[in-house]
Amino acid sequence: MIFGKKENISTLDDILQASWRMLHDGVRNFRDPFHQSSLTTLDGDKPQVRIVILREFSEKDRTLICHCDARGSKVLQIQDNPNVSWLFYNPEKWLQLRLSGTASVHTDDETADSQWEKVTMAHRINYCAEIPPGSPTEKPTSGIPGFLREKAPKLLDASEARKNFAAIVCRFDEMDWLLLKLTGHVRAKFYWKENRMNASWVVP
Ligand SMILES: Cc1cc2nc3c(=O)[nH]c(=O)nc-3n(C[C@H](O)[C@H](O)[C@H](O)COP(=O)(O)O)c2cc1C
Repeated sequence: MIFGKKENISTLDDILQASWRMLHDGVRNFRDPFHQSSLTTLDGDKPQVRIVILREFSEKDRTLICHCDARGSKVLQIQDNPNVSWLFYNPEKWLQLRLSGTASVHTDDETADSQWEKVTMAHRINYCAEIPPGSPTEKPTSGIPGFLREKAPKLLDASEARKNFAAIVCRFDEMDWLLLKLTGHVRAKFYWKENRMNASWVVP
């Protein structure tokens, strides 16, 4: 029993199933610690990390999805080098999950369209900045034109916003699970090659 009384976790398969549950909870519940993740990309040989919201998870496809502005730096970085890593942490459980694999950027296909459908009207405004994210400005600004701020949410189905939207789909092939415990930390690693999984306990 690794997690304590509430969850009966003692095998590698239990850990896998519990990890899937936590990732699904992270998608569904905005208060869940797994709702926000750190996504690392590579800018040349320089790692770049930032927080993103976990929008979708599939254990069947082994994918994690987040949304972003198509003009942002991480999009260019992924197009240049698809290797990415996601970091999740649940401070109540003292549990860290790291997943890594390769990412693809979707702006103009069925995946992008179906992800865009999930973006609420209130959040579509985030894709309406006139100039790309990361552009220097003289004053602090969201980059969103004033008329849009005032007339939102009426204008928020604007196709302008859709043009700037991208979904990042990451297929992971490695997962590192770590639980800190007073009685001794526990760690496990999972690897997938095609559809075969390899799992083992490792020294933390
Ligand atoms: C709580 C929180 C959630 C965020 N969620 C996202 C997100 O889902 N997608 C995104 O592109 N940026 C998100 N951001 C902003 C990114 O962390 C980052 O600042 C921005 O995307 C620019 O990153 P880039 O220049 O590396 O592309 C979030 C920031 C915070 C603090």
